[in-house]
Amino acid sequence: MADVFYRLAKPEDIEEIVRLEAVCFPTEPWSRQMFLEELENDLALFVVAEDAGAGEGSSRGRIAGYLIAWVIAPVECQIGSIAVLPEYRRRGIARQLLEILLETCRKTKTPETYLEVRVSNAAAIELYRSLGFETDGLRKSYYQDGEDALTMARHEE
Ligand SMILES: CC(C)(COP(=O)(O)OP(=O)(O)OC[C@H]1O[C@@H](n2cnc3c(N)ncnc32)[C@H](O)[C@@H]1OP(=O)(O)O)[C@@H](O)C(=O)NCCC(=O)NCCS
Repeated sequence: MADVFYRLAKPEDIEEIVRLEAVCFPTEPWSRQMFLEELENDLALFVVAEDAGAGEGSSRGRIAGYLIAWVIAPVECQIGSIAVLPEYRRRGIARQLLEILLETCRKTKTPETYLEVRVSNAAAIELYRSLGFETDGLRKSYYQDGEDALTMARHEE
């Protein structure tokens, strides 16, 4: 489990990511088609965390988490989705996925990063706060089930 590394997503990852998505977002999962579109999207940064020591197949490890963000350099970065399988949580994987995004933002001189998060999602809100994001607004009934979203933003110094 210690052997997690980070790389760009590939088409052959999508089936596993769809299964991870169903576990992590049981109410509003992204569809297979949405993930496939992000693989083709030039603005998308689509990164996976792979556990090299725990693969389903012979050559690939198990996908423990992923991040999708849109880097609209030099204007803004927008986080689309981030998730880590329950058995891999609290090991710094989401933090590392976000550090990869923030490094990309720095390299492309894109100082503003935005996201939306469910008001009830204390774990994610704490994760973003720990990386310097601040709450900057509320979107009423943003989600299909009617829950509000907090908008959070991070400004690179
Ligand atoms: C939110 C999520 C991505 C965090 O993934 P993770 O890999 O466990 O996060 P990390 O281990 O990198 O945590 C980094 C920091 O975030 C905060 N954090 C993460 N999970 C937390 C929790 N359950 N409670 C409180 N703080 C938490 C802590 O500050 C943590 O640092 P620490 O472990 O040193 O205290 C994961 O819980 C998840 O996939 N949830 C379901 C999907 C989801 O809600 N995605 C976000 C949508 S906006």
